[in-house]
Amino acid sequence: MGYTLTMLGCGVMGQAILSAIYNAPKSENASLYPSKIIACNGDAPAANQVTDLIKGYGESPNGIVVESTFGDNIAAVKQSDVIILGTKPYLVELVMNELTHVVKGKLIISIAAGWTISQLQGYSNVVSRVMTNTPAKYGYGCAVIAHSSEVNTEQKQLVSELISNVGVCVELPEKNMDAATSLVGSGPAYVLLMIESMMESGIKMGIPLAESLKCTLQVLEGTVKMVEKSGTHPSVLKHQVCTPGGTTIAGLCKMEEYGVKNGIIKGVEEGAIVAAKLGKK
Ligand SMILES: NC(=O)c1ccc[n+]([C@@H]2O[C@H](COP(=O)([O-])OP(=O)(O)OC[C@H]3O[C@@H](n4cnc5c(N)ncnc54)[C@H](OP(=O)(O)O)[C@@H]3O)[C@@H](O)[C@H]2O)c1
Repeated sequence: MGYTLTMLGCGVMGQAILSAIYNAPKSENASLYPSKIIACNGDAPAANQVTDLIKGYGESPNGIVVESTFGDNIAAVKQSDVIILGTKPYLVELVMNELTHVVKGKLIISIAAGWTISQLQGYSNVVSRVMTNTPAKYGYGCAVIAHSSEVNTEQKQLVSELISNVGVCVELPEKNMDAATSLVGSGPAYVLLMIESMMESGIKMGIPLAESLKCTLQVLEGTVKMVEKSGTHPSVLKHQVCTPGGTTIAGLCKMEEYGVKNGIIKGVEEGAIVAAKLGKK
């Protein structure tokens, strides 16, 4: 008989993580998986959405049963050993203040942007802070994890096993979390801007929308695979494509004239600055 896990807040991100854990292939580390997940939301429509989501899947390969509720966080947390905190950051205080007497000593895995480990330790000392992103819904997410010193080796293993199902999992010190919030959490929006821009450049020059999008996606995916498989630094690969006096270097120089690289770096930094302010009262 495994443990019970409560998800406090199971919206966009919570459902992505729930789906990834529920549908995880049968694991050799079955004991690291919960036998039951209680998904808690604020109202009936959100709870029904989770029920419908799970109905759309087959049985969980690791035998996980999901119960979807609303308005009864205390009862759910009382039954649970592990909590995933997935409400919007501004609701964390409200939601957690009501749970102080039942949550102490339990492992809190928080995905709330801006909430630091030390702030969350006001509720329980055992905290893992995770920043992930929406591609998690399709198994292509990225998650950055930082643990409080009270999280033991077995609990770290549990967090990695569960969260790695979103895609790729990286452990970093907490000081990197604001940067990760922007780079990883907001990252898909930045890449979507790139996709949109490339797609529209094709349309502007006469390539129909569908074909322009198809080509853009393949260029992005192909380039990612090339970087991964070659193990070569991106700058080296970039210069390999630049024929002297050719089209690529001309395009790159024009982009630099418009400050594309600096704009991206400054934009990601700005996201991190806002992330750092989120948890502060
Ligand atoms: N979305 C992203 O791309 C992304 C990326 C990285 C990190 N995050 C982090 O993920 C967290 C959740 O974001 P989200 O986009 O998933 O938000 P969301 O879709 O609004 O989900 C939050 C959920 O919390 C529920 N909730 C509200 N009040 C509650 C209460 N008192 N008790 C229990 N549940 C309650 C809401 O249910 P009701 O609708 O019933 O109120 C909702 O389903 C945030 O802290 C955010 O920083 C999000």
